[in-house]
Amino acid sequence: MLCTLKEAAGLAKQAGHGLAAFNVFGYEDAAAVICAAEKTDRPVVLMTNKLAVEHMGIPILAQMLRYMAERAAVPVCVHLDHATELEKIREAAEWGYTSVMIDGSGLPFDENVAITREAAAIAHPRGISVEGEIGSVGYSDHKEVHGRFTEPDEAEKFAKISGVDALAVAVGTVHRMEEQGVDLQFDRLREIYSRVDVPLVIHGSTGVADADLKKLVQAGACKINMGTVLRMTFGHSMRKQLERDPALFDRIKIFQNCMKDVEKKAIDKIKCL
Ligand code: G3H
Ligand code: ZN
Repeated sequence: MLCTLKEAAGLAKQAGHGLAAFNVFGYEDAAAVICAAEKTDRPVVLMTNKLAVEHMGIPILAQMLRYMAERAAVPVCVHLDHATELEKIREAAEWGYTSVMIDGSGLPFDENVAITREAAAIAHPRGISVEGEIGSVGYSDHKEVHGRFTEPDEAEKFAKISGVDALAVAVGTVHRMEEQGVDLQFDRLREIYSRVDVPLVIHGSTGVADADLKKLVQAGACKINMGTVLRMTFGHSMRKQLERDPALFDRIKIFQNCMKDVEKKAIDKIKCL
């Protein structure tokens, strides 16, 4: 079933668990994630980031993922991740994404509010959910993008005036970590949770220890974004197969094994929430 982020987050909250959100880059990982969600009977979010959008384009991604989501046995949200331009929000809305993130985290507060409100004005009349970000989650591979912890005051104010349906906050995670081991500020998250009404989102969750994923949810996080972990699983699975059998060249054969490994990893992560 195709659903919005607002709906998926509501269902997860009702059931008392976190909502897994995975970056996907094509048919194979999207299908594996949907199988994982069906086997665990959880709603899930399929997210496409800038790299996926540059590679395939919004029309292809939107139609493929919508088609897959509509046929899933569990609620599946199709979400545009980290859009910094309103043009991309418009395109995603036109082609049928059910949720968009407008990432104004690099902007001064007032400009972030303004662009997020514009995104909401595009998305909401079409019933599409909007995620915004306050504070900033940095990148392990882009040191020039500086992380900045979210202040509870600004989160409260931003959530009230920006029109968001979900709010990404920075409490210690870093994007694209290849190992687990970030220091999380659970007290900061609890404080933000007590002052913000919309579901909270944690980016860069590949770097979070499995045991801490549950603690994040208990401290008030709802949507847990994971990307690198599945990219690594897919890539390592492919490498192992090719090393084991250098004569192997059939992509369908290779991808089918990658899909099994991605599905297993996604199930493990969903269960952590
Ligand atoms: O928006 C996407 C996520 O924040 C993914 O982060 O690749 O570090 O897990 P990650
Ligand atoms: Zn992110």
